[in-house]
Amino acid sequence: MKKILAPSLLAGDHSCLKDSLLIVDQDGRNWIHLDIMDGHFVPNLSFGPQTVADLRKHSNIFFDVHLMLDQPQKYIEPFAQAGADLISIHVEPEYDIPDALEKIRSLGKKAGIVLNPDTAVEEVFPYLNDVELVLCMTVNPGFGGQSFIESVLAKVRALVALRSEREESFLIEVDGGVGPEHVPACLDAGVDVFVAGTAYFKGDKEARDEFAASIET
Ligand code: DX5
Ligand code: ZN
Repeated sequence: MKKILAPSLLAGDHSCLKDSLLIVDQDGRNWIHLDIMDGHFVPNLSFGPQTVADLRKHSNIFFDVHLMLDQPQKYIEPFAQAGADLISIHVEPEYDIPDALEKIRSLGKKAGIVLNPDTAVEEVFPYLNDVELVLCMTVNPGFGGQSFIESVLAKVRALVALRSEREESFLIEVDGGVGPEHVPACLDAGVDVFVAGTAYFKGDKEARDEFAASIET
């Protein structure tokens, strides 16, 4: 399975997000990760569907949209219309998760399910048949620039084992605090998609290319 580095736009300059998008696009990345926060499920705000729609006009890169929302089902359609390619929703809030996943797929988008560092991996087991991606948070969501929680890789290993047992094909993504120093352990655990915000945007072109090459081999 091809490995993917998905830079997180959250770590770009929010006065000119288009420029950050174009850096990622011109670097040759295939995915960009877009973090949507509501100030309820997580203690921070980011940007909404209008921003995603405006960014969509400037690139065909795969938009990996991570909804950190208390009521994600209300915003699936706006983000689908804005040009999301994949929409991920958290397992923790109270809402009809099967219905929300079905909605994402009925709009022709790929669906992902997300779990926080303290959430047991078993919580996502009922949905594995209905998603293209499982996102294991390696920080408590809300802010970029936090430290990678390495113990989450045990969940990645459990998902890899279950995926092969059930003959499924969902991708496994990690998000939060990921830097070049974590790549070997993540590859060893079986991570497919590496979200990186701070570590990606702080590097010059050479550092970004080197980071990508260590993943996208
Ligand atoms: C955390 C977000 C992450 C964040 C990652 O709430 O979901 O996607 O942007 O940024 P870094 O790599 O800086 O931890
Ligand atoms: Zn994210």
